[in-house]
Amino acid sequence: MSKDTLSVTDNRTGKTYELPIQNETIKATDLRQIKVKDDDFGMMSYDPAFGNTASCTSRVTFIDGEKGILRYRGYPIEQLAEKSNFLEVAYLLIHGELPNKTEYGNWEHDITHHTYIHENIKKLIESFRYDAHPMGMMMGTVAALSTFYPKAKEIFDTGIQKLEIRRLIAKMPTIAGFSYRHTMGLPFNYPDNDLSYAGNFLNMMFKMTETKYEPNPAIEKAIDVLFILHADHEQNCSASAMRNVGSSHPDPYSATAAAIAALYGPLHGGANEAVLEMLAEIGTKDQIPKFIERAKKGEFRLMGFGHRVYKAYDPRAQIIKGIAHDVFEVTGANPLLEMALELEKIALEDEYFVKRRLYPNVDFYSGLIYQSMGLPTSMFTVLFAIARTAGWLAQWLEFLNDPEARIARPRQVYLGEGERDFVPMGKRK
Ligand code: CMC
Repeated sequence: MSKDTLSVTDNRTGKTYELPIQNETIKATDLRQIKVKDDDFGMMSYDPAFGNTASCTSRVTFIDGEKGILRYRGYPIEQLAEKSNFLEVAYLLIHGELPNKTEYGNWEHDITHHTYIHENIKKLIESFRYDAHPMGMMMGTVAALSTFYPKAKEIFDTGIQKLEIRRLIAKMPTIAGFSYRHTMGLPFNYPDNDLSYAGNFLNMMFKMTETKYEPNPAIEKAIDVLFILHADHEQNCSASAMRNVGSSHPDPYSATAAAIAALYGPLHGGANEAVLEMLAEIGTKDQIPKFIERAKKGEFRLMGFGHRVYKAYDPRAQIIKGIAHDVFEVTGANPLLEMALELEKIALEDEYFVKRRLYPNVDFYSGLIYQSMGLPTSMFTVLFAIARTAGWLAQWLEFLNDPEARIARPRQVYLGEGERDFVPMGKRK
């Protein structure tokens, strides 16, 4: 008769252990009983990049990387991108269900009415150097928000959780817009509560002398869909940072600042910026084969290619490719698009990429769209961060409500020196 257990025989001792299996997993701590001597620490599993370790149970986002499936709370990303909007998706991620009309109305109202930032936060943004990277500004500013909302540290108070979640989602576009205007030396544009979440973001970025900013509907829609596509992606590097840092129970602003730091890196959210730099470096289509050869030799990675989880075409990249045409109809085609398409074609036929199942990821095409909209490359990851804040907060909330959650504290395999006596400086080599 089949049993939901795993039998493990330790060939050092000949002993067999029976470990329970739940949800296709064994508990790493169940390995601890495996010992040679009674006073041994016990067996651990070694998994340096968490390639096969589930750090939590979650009900937020589902990915099947083999089949290229992404769902938020059970809803396929394709349907959400087509039929929903970012604020509704953010509500879904946080609350677990789509809102009814009243719930949506209240949510939209609350988010809209928390978009202003304290004037001192504005001064903080002004004090950054003129050439400061907007991701650095965003990270610092979000961390600073914790000092403006000291009650935010009462993280188990459901009323405070609710308020801070709304504040964070509402203020991210404002911080992004102000950071951009600062780097451009332009006056800040205050939020306009008549506009949609995406439309207001565009207003804070691009409004000049007009009395009322009217976003182009195609661009507004594209930004909204891009926000949906970036809203969550289960236990990626930044979500894990949010949960890990959140596990010591700081306020959500501090944890979000840590998640922003994780997103900043070129292997995560920073890849969209790196793709554009890469395409510019390649320069012309005839240089692509040479460039690919260098990537294959391991000189560098093809940015916007490959994914830890997706071993098929990233479904977000597929949707983005579709939106690109709507945007380019308004902005005119991005000359780098042809290069990107050619690079994708050559890479997808190349044995190196086929064998390793490396496909374009979400960042491969998003940068081209952002660039065509007039956004500087340094702002690309900032847009990712605005959208991902909803996901980070959903993951954080789930963590706080998880009875099994404890402070994150990984183990190590110590391979350093054994005990040795201190050597005075004069006697050292
Ligand atoms: N270009 C060339 N080779 C690659 C690439 C790439 N972009 N990605 C992976 N490989 C190779 C890698 O060298 C290795 O080859 P080998 O087996 O011969 O050593 C093999 O493929 C497996 O790579 P890995 O490093 O074990 O894969 P990983 O799961 O640790 O890394 C990744 C995932 C996304 C960090 C990586 O694919 C990468 O660096 N991609 C470029 C950066 C990028 O586009 N990042 C955005 C990810 S999607 C958005 C997000 O999550 O933020």
